[in-house]
Amino acid sequence: MRYRLGPALISADEIQARIRELAAALSSDYRDRDLLVICVLKGAAIFWADLVRRLTIPCQNDFVAMESYGDGTTAQKAPRFTKAAGVNLTDRDVLIVEDIIDTGHTIVRLRELLQLQAPRSVAVCSLLDKVERREVATPIEYCGFIIPNVFVVGYGLDHAQQYRHLSHLARLEPAF
Ligand code: IMP
Ligand code: MG
Repeated sequence: MRYRLGPALISADEIQARIRELAAALSSDYRDRDLLVICVLKGAAIFWADLVRRLTIPCQNDFVAMESYGDGTTAQKAPRFTKAAGVNLTDRDVLIVEDIIDTGHTIVRLRELLQLQAPRSVAVCSLLDKVERREVATPIEYCGFIIPNVFVVGYGLDHAQQYRHLSHLARLEPAF
């Protein structure tokens, strides 16, 4: 099936307004702590870049990338790192910045992998939460927007590596 860009779901202005709120909450909650922000490539890169520039507290930043699994591979849902963090997490306050939590498998696995290094705390900040699709329960300490069960692109999120550069979030729709 072919797809095309559909109607906007969340505008650029709405995204930026929510990021200001999230950054204010994080700047307060992580004051006087040892914040290490971990951006999950590639989807969270644009969200991460806007979010951390709004923080008013010191932080360090690093990147990880996770193997993805196709929708057909329900048996194997323990994605591994394709890029692990380059800094030691022991005793750090780790904030994972994600683009979207869908089934939850990726973030559950990522939390397990990061916990192996004994951080002081781990929390998740996800731009989007497709809560209806959840297969495994997992806390999302900071959430930008809860969205319905539709495929979205833009603002870092892709379909076949396209649309990541858009400033807003849009639905993807079939092109007949
Ligand atoms: P989960 O393990 O099912 O929670 O998968 C989360 C990952 O699936 C995200 O990091 C995205 O890479 C991808 N994903 C899930 N839903 C969407 C969507 O609507 N648009 C783009 N990517 C998505
Ligand atoms: Mg992702």
